[in-house]
Amino acid sequence: MKKIEAIIRPEKVEDLKEELNRININGLTLCQVMGFGQQKGYKEYFRGTEVLLNVRPKVKAEIIVHDEQVEDVIEIVCEAARTGEVGDGKIFITEVVDAVRIRTGERGEEVI
Ligand SMILES: Nc1ncnc2c1ncn2[C@@H]1O[C@H](COP(=O)(O)OP(=O)(O)OP(=O)(O)O)[C@@H](O)[C@H]1O
Ligand SMILES: [Mg+2]
Repeated sequence: MKKIEAIIRPEKVEDLKEELNRININGLTLCQVMGFGQQKGYKEYFRGTEVLLNVRPKVKAEIIVHDEQVEDVIEIVCEAARTGEVGDGKIFITEVVDAVRIRTGERGEEVI
């Protein structure tokens, strides 16, 4: 199992949800976050430089998937979230060691 963390523009969330709905994904966590990338939040909006770092609102989408789903999800996120401008976001992929469905006590791959 892998965790796909995609940090994207808030206005791209609906597109992402629509795209994910077309494949067999049984869960999604969304959080509103603030962050910066290599432009430190500036060029993205062509603001002044009066503060050291300029964090911008983003949405973090977390999806736990089977290993064989990873590439499909990456493709879908990129298609849904890309504008071609700086600030489109990033995807981080990590190993998930276990999962638990609280209602039933099921463990591992069957939980997702
Ligand atoms: N190294 C990182 N660690 C944690 N979060 C990051 C990292 N890089 C980017 N992010 C998160 O992703 C968001 C979007 O980053 P962004 O797309 O600006 O990355 P970038 O590397 O600057 O690429 P680009 O040049 O296309 O803008 C940031 O606001 C931040 O929340
Ligand atoms: Mg950037």
